[in-house]
Amino acid sequence: MGETQNNDEVFREKLDQLNDFEFNDKVAGVFDDMVNRSVPYYDEMQRMTSELVKDFAGKDSLVYDLGCSTGTTMILMDKTVDPDVKFVGIDDSEQMLGKCREKLSRFNLHREITLKVADLTQNVPVENASAVTMVLVLQFIRPIHRLDIVRKIYEGMNRGGAFILIEKVLTEEKSFNRSFIDYYYKFKRRNNYSELEISQKREALENVLIPYKLSENLNMLKDAGFEEVEVFFKWYNFAGIIAKKI
Ligand SMILES: C[S@@+](CC[C@H](N)C(=O)[O-])C[C@H]1O[C@@H](n2cnc3c(N)ncnc32)[C@H](O)[C@@H]1O
Repeated sequence: MGETQNNDEVFREKLDQLNDFEFNDKVAGVFDDMVNRSVPYYDEMQRMTSELVKDFAGKDSLVYDLGCSTGTTMILMDKTVDPDVKFVGIDDSEQMLGKCREKLSRFNLHREITLKVADLTQNVPVENASAVTMVLVLQFIRPIHRLDIVRKIYEGMNRGGAFILIEKVLTEEKSFNRSFIDYYYKFKRRNNYSELEISQKREALENVLIPYKLSENLNMLKDAGFEEVEVFFKWYNFAGIIAKKI
């Protein structure tokens, strides 16, 4: 999906000063390569998301992709979801939405799609939704805001709708964390990231990407109101959950 994307070299050289990770211009320009090389089974998670959403997306309703970045999820959902269903992509990074706009026009989608800049900690503009996706986004939002955001998503959804949440997660048992993270870094090495790139990115993400345990995510979804909650994907420290509003 990232045919004209540049290679991710954001952390390739030794940086004199490491700032907190941001979805700025530099990251937006290489994001598709970065996410494909940094997230195991990224394509498969996206494919599963698009097939699950199809089961819920209803004609007179909207499908939202919260934290849509460059629009990969919407491009795949476009192939599975009835063309009358409108999509709304939301992100708080103008730079990411700029890339998203470019990519959507390159893929020439014949569907009404609205892109909105919004910070989900301030405003969750979800209404009349039959499906909402949030792929690798909630982990970047400070924990204090998470339950409130998921509650607002639940409130903005129609009965019978589904919310898909994909997150990096911590292990339930502390003793497995280290080995699972080691296997994750091995995955990154297989994708040609150097030790320096891995360690600089880890440091930049330290206070920015804050994973919950899978059980904490499941409890949060139930506390927000979702009546049926199911795990559909798991790879070491990554998990995909579908939650239904009955
Ligand atoms: C890892 S990317 C998401 C990847 C994308 N969903 C995909 O499937 O390829 C995280 C995205 O969440 C956005 N984001 C982070 N915090 C946000 C917030 N408070 N409100 C809205 N978007 C946010 C970032 O700008 C970034 O584009």
